[in-house]
Amino acid sequence: MADAAGTPEAAAPVLVIAGLRHDYGSAAVLRDFSFSAACGQHSLLLGPSGSGKTTLINLIAGLLAVRHGSIRIAGELMAGTPAARDDLRRRRIGIIFQTLRLVEALSVTANLRLAQKLAGRAPDEAEIARLLDEVGLAHRAGARPRALSQGEAQRAAVARALVGRPDLLIADEPTSALDDANAERIARLLVGTADAHGSTLLIATHDARLKAHIPHALVLTPIAAEAA
Ligand SMILES: Nc1ncnc2c1ncn2[C@@H]1O[C@H](COP(=O)(O)OP(=O)(O)OP(=O)(O)O)[C@@H](O)[C@H]1O
Ligand SMILES: [Mg+2]
Repeated sequence: MADAAGTPEAAAPVLVIAGLRHDYGSAAVLRDFSFSAACGQHSLLLGPSGSGKTTLINLIAGLLAVRHGSIRIAGELMAGTPAARDDLRRRRIGIIFQTLRLVEALSVTANLRLAQKLAGRAPDEAEIARLLDEVGLAHRAGARPRALSQGEAQRAAVARALVGRPDLLIADEPTSALDDANAERIARLLVGTADAHGSTLLIATHDARLKAHIPHALVLTPIAAEAA
């Protein structure tokens, strides 16, 4: 977390991407892409459909292997076997997938308990209760995901992403399916909870409504369009 003195440690980047390239077969999606996010510096990842936003998120999260270039999370290289990448993701990154991916067989509380365990945190029921309260879901703690409304499920996914106390909180299109009021609510929740927990936020979106909440943006351009 940043401190008033602005020590070098406080300024250490949470995410450093250098010279990243990704191809699917012969199709290049990312080319010589570099980016750095300081602790607490939130950014939007903008770009039209097909420009590589989800690909970049999957590379940052270690769900896809980096073949050219490098990605560091809080100084640690996102590299190696899938198991090594899973380990780094669980310790350092919280992700809110577009399709949320809550575990249907588990209650909201049990989903958070599982994420806490996978992040290597000691069991802490009080923290889980506190987080659910923070996202306005205390009354739905025992519910299964399919019994939640879309907005409630999204808030459960935010709480689950935070329970590992991530340095980096990533969300893929968290608001594109929502009306204005709910998009506003999720945007405030993401920025507010990221700030409260000292997490750096990266949101992939083509939803221009989010620019009011997070002015800093990096823009991906489809490589074919770039070359044209
Ligand atoms: N597994 C895959 N195999 C082959 N091509 C892929 C694969 N995943 C994505 N692509 C292609 O890579 C490009 C970038 O896809 P990606 O999903 O990263 O875009 P995006 O910016 O997230 O788009 P959207 O805004 O529609 O979600 C697209 O042209 C897509 O068709
Ligand atoms: Mg996408």
